[in-house]
Amino acid sequence: METSEETAKESTTVEKKITKLIQQMTVDEKIGQLSLVNSIYGKISKSLKQTIADGKIGGILNEVDVNVVNELQRIAREESRLGIPLLVGRDVIHGFKTIFPIPLGLSSTWNTEIVKQCGRISAREASAAGINWTFAPMLDISRDPRWGRIAESFGEDPYLSCELAKAIISGFQGDDLRNPDCIAACAKHFAGYGASEGGKDYNTTNIPENELRNVYLRPFKAALDAGAVSVMTSFSDLNGIPASANVFLLKQILRHEWHFEGFVVSDWESISQLSVHGLTANNREAAYEAANAGVDMEMVSRTYADHLADLVREERISEDQIDIMVSNILRAKFRLGLFDTPLTKTDRAGNGKPHKHLEAAKQSATQSCVLLENRHGILPLSKKELSSIAVIGPLADDPYEQLGTWIFDGDRDLSQTPLNAIKAIVDDSTEIHFCRAMETTRSKTRKGFGEAIKVSEKSDLIILFLGEESVLSGEAHCRADLNMPGNQNELIDEIAKTGKPIILVIMAGRPLLLEEIRKKVDSILYAWHPGTMAGPAIADLLFGIESPSGKLPVTFPRAVGQIPIYYNHKNTGRPATDESIIKIDDIKPGTPQHSSGDTSFYLDIDNLPLYPFGYGLSYSEFKYSHLKLDKHRIKSGESIKINFDLTNTGRFEAEEVAQLYIRDLVGSVTRPVKELKGFKKVRLRAGETASISFELATDYLAFYGRDSKLITEPGKFHLWVGGCSDTDLCAEFEIIE
Ligand code: BGC
Repeated sequence: METSEETAKESTTVEKKITKLIQQMTVDEKIGQLSLVNSIYGKISKSLKQTIADGKIGGILNEVDVNVVNELQRIAREESRLGIPLLVGRDVIHGFKTIFPIPLGLSSTWNTEIVKQCGRISAREASAAGINWTFAPMLDISRDPRWGRIAESFGEDPYLSCELAKAIISGFQGDDLRNPDCIAACAKHFAGYGASEGGKDYNTTNIPENELRNVYLRPFKAALDAGAVSVMTSFSDLNGIPASANVFLLKQILRHEWHFEGFVVSDWESISQLSVHGLTANNREAAYEAANAGVDMEMVSRTYADHLADLVREERISEDQIDIMVSNILRAKFRLGLFDTPLTKTDRAGNGKPHKHLEAAKQSATQSCVLLENRHGILPLSKKELSSIAVIGPLADDPYEQLGTWIFDGDRDLSQTPLNAIKAIVDDSTEIHFCRAMETTRSKTRKGFGEAIKVSEKSDLIILFLGEESVLSGEAHCRADLNMPGNQNELIDEIAKTGKPIILVIMAGRPLLLEEIRKKVDSILYAWHPGTMAGPAIADLLFGIESPSGKLPVTFPRAVGQIPIYYNHKNTGRPATDESIIKIDDIKPGTPQHSSGDTSFYLDIDNLPLYPFGYGLSYSEFKYSHLKLDKHRIKSGESIKINFDLTNTGRFEAEEVAQLYIRDLVGSVTRPVKELKGFKKVRLRAGETASISFELATDYLAFYGRDSKLITEPGKFHLWVGGCSDTDLCAEFEIIE
């Protein structure tokens, strides 16, 4: 680790090198640096070679053959006039060869160490292929499970997203980006993409500035504070200005307020798409708007390459502005040490310790699964008491579908499926009867149902593997109906008729609707898409080698009509109470309009979500007690020490995520009814009590007020601790003038 003096000295040296290099560059070479070009997997075309040799490319994306990457770097270093190396970008989102749970699953671990380790291993594997830049983490706050990209997010909460952003970035970028196994991170998609209207991808977003700052921007700020090298703009239109031309986001916030020194890359063709949005009439104007807003590098489309030089000649864009854009990119190349070591040692391919990577994949998958239901403690299963198990469903033995979205390079041959892992874990005397039942989760025939019923009838218990295949979530894969696709509900109905106990394991990229399903099964383990080691992780949980410890990073609605539904909502002026809610079936004909308490609820559905944020069962039980604050009145700048006891009152050794929430009772802008402000994952033996403490500084209570400034206001707060956002162990404190 360097001292701050060394860092300052080094950055002055780098700035001098950048200035010297820029002085030697022609306008065309400068514009070349701004261009990020898609490669043609594994091929080096004559024209690509020539363009690199001419200094007209700043980076490539989607090339993973280390020999090809090295040859392109060699051309850049040796054949181009100024020898500037290339950025080599790739979507390494939840693993490279070894696949970890989808980000929403990683988020369910509430374990920053594990998330950091996933980033570290991803970087190690990807850098062996010559990749020096990942397009991750995705930090879009997601409150809408219809949106396919919720799978790529850390969920609905700014605090959890901030903590996990810092963790994964430190994993990707390591201690020193110049190390050969470190890669640059890219915080994306800046900003507000998660608020796409109707949960439909690429859709318009309208987010008031206060909400933008208090919710959507926070994870980005945390990512930049953690040193993220780059930021990617969003495809979406924010309050009327597409993000790739949004001066408020890119100049005002990113550069003026946050002093970001890294570079901004557009999303795929999002600059040329400014014309499709109807913001600009043509590519030349699109290039003007994006450059003027501060997008440094253009991904795939060529508006900069084709028009920036003319815009400079016409003096609409100054050469100084181009120099700033180029220097932002060169700074990253220096930080990555690419001028010194542009080539990747080819014997690094496949290096690392694959078994350690698999172990980490298993651990993260184990911790990502959330136990939603466990009637009569049916789980964990006892190997001894079961002579036969039916394993049923299209996701029980599918090495590909368990991997999830964004697995371009994922090695499906490494995948270990639940079926094989269950077979490996049970005693020889236990018979496993497998039936896929449906070809895919979307199948609409009942062809396999007969066989599924047959194997169910001859088994003691049924483990069903249902949900969504990988391709049903992720980019451009949104759904308006969040029921299990295809005939899966019918399959559950048929199997339930056998009267046998049913354990339902769901793999999915988003929260699905489970209100009816949960009545028909005995247990639900929500596994998201767990990645390479899905099988051993799930088998360990089912058979009690580990207790589930995942907690939900998003609220599960009861019906699509409740969306957006999230725990940190505002109170409204008329919040519902148990007494004020009336049910549609209870309304007598002729009842006057104001018969209810006129509060905020739906007539036709419960007001609460099905499962709240932070929820997740364990095989054990936990008691929170003796909540104490070291003081109840603090001044701005001070902090409170919070202490409480956490006791494992159950029969199993298990991990619990202790969560800390607050509510600011009165604010100059309305404040959420609850906000997460801390969490700790703790392992406790049966009967063990741990004393847990949190330190809550008033900085954590600051919010953006009426004039968009971060403020800490005096006033009263409630504070809760518990294993879920729906918790009632509460205390009060006050910030005084
Ligand atoms: C996605 C980005 C991704 C980029 C490069 C775009 O379609 O929105 O998240 O990084 O493609 O693959």
